[in-house]
Amino acid sequence: MKIAVVGSGYVGLCSAAGFASLGHDVVCVDMDKDKVDKINRGEPPMYEEGLSELLSETLKNKKICASAGMESIKSADFIFITVGTPSKPDGNLDLGYVQKASEDVGNFLKIRGYCTIVVKSTVLPGTAENSIIPTVERISGKKAGKDFGVCSNPEFFREGKALEDFFKPDRIIIGQYDDKSGDMLAKLYSSFQCPLKRTDLKTAELIKYASNAFLAMKISFINEIGNICKNLGIDVYEVAEGMGLDRRIGGRFLQAGIGFGGSCFGKDVSALLHKSQELNSRSQILEAVLSVNSKQPTRIVLLLKEKMDIRNKAIALLGLSFKEDTDDVRDAPSIAIISELLKHGCTINCYDPRAAENMRKIFPSLNYGSSALEALNSADACLILTGWKEFNNLSDKDFSVMKGKVIIEGRKILDRNKVSNYEGICW
Ligand code: UDX
Repeated sequence: MKIAVVGSGYVGLCSAAGFASLGHDVVCVDMDKDKVDKINRGEPPMYEEGLSELLSETLKNKKICASAGMESIKSADFIFITVGTPSKPDGNLDLGYVQKASEDVGNFLKIRGYCTIVVKSTVLPGTAENSIIPTVERISGKKAGKDFGVCSNPEFFREGKALEDFFKPDRIIIGQYDDKSGDMLAKLYSSFQCPLKRTDLKTAELIKYASNAFLAMKISFINEIGNICKNLGIDVYEVAEGMGLDRRIGGRFLQAGIGFGGSCFGKDVSALLHKSQELNSRSQILEAVLSVNSKQPTRIVLLLKEKMDIRNKAIALLGLSFKEDTDDVRDAPSIAIISELLKHGCTINCYDPRAAENMRKIFPSLNYGSSALEALNSADACLILTGWKEFNNLSDKDFSVMKGKVIIEGRKILDRNKVSNYEGICW
């Protein structure tokens, strides 16, 4: 099949490289010329496990290429829209990139035959029907369901594991405008070994939001239980393990800590909350999910303040990215923690294996070390903010270079057999 992918963020590029490796001919379209050049040189513009290798392989086999304009797509069976949908300050979605992509696709369709538009960008229920289809029809002068097909095909990729999630998804959701569109997309996915659920467009759009909101709720729930555990001297991880043995609950996404971050959960929950308010049925659960999560990061600072006077002290921060195995600091809990520490005049010595450069753009004047040891050296206290595997190797010997003795982890990663004196935010 011939596939065009409009928007080369991690969702677009990982889907593109995935489809190319399955033998399809893929063109990545992105308005950022610099990104296009990088992709064509085999350099992914973002870090994603295995992507560099897959991109090189598919470029070598001439199965993928990138271009700054739609005119490079000679013919396409599918046009995937994978552009970003950032948040507006009021929590609603900014559909500017989706609108631009719909206009570009409309122009492309003026002179091309039937193809199926597949919306992978995360958009609220009704967006494909009320915004994307009318735009494409207006500009192309063609009719959805007759001259072109439309599907909603939400993705559930985790950053860092996007390729694993592409090749081995838990499920594939296909929202279809009409049977022909859905049949074509189902055929594209026919080699995937997982349940495939077909719905109408707006149901598929909501499945994405409801899934992310539910996962975010699980995290805020276990964080609240964790805060209770902390006061009672109970390890929340034991509680979570006990709960997770009930198959109705399941053990995943019950890791308490400093809260969720990243580009999806906060944005998606806010957008769904905004939608519920628009519909006059304000979601109290979603409000609580966000409220718990906004307070969770700075609880680690409160805990630290119970143990020492932090004014003007040197604090070592290990880990800056919103989770391990990524350089992404968007909505990272570390940002709120750093701001709080700076308010108290703390000197911050931090280390992250990948995210330092991105954090430097937000906080240029922190001391960025090139190893955990460098950050720990002479620090009065240490906070662990990301569960990078390498922190699991830290031992009492490493922490002995600190001036103070307080070590608090915000993600459960230290090894009790190697480090004798530390505690967790909820354990
Ligand atoms: C998420 C969804 O998992 C994915 O399906 C969707 O497509 C995009 O958003 P991602 O943001 O990459 O993926 O990361 P994820 O692994 O889900 O973690 C999100 C945040 O929650 C991280 O900050 C992580 O540390 C935190 N988290 C996750 C917890 O605090 N506890 C958990 O048990 C799980």
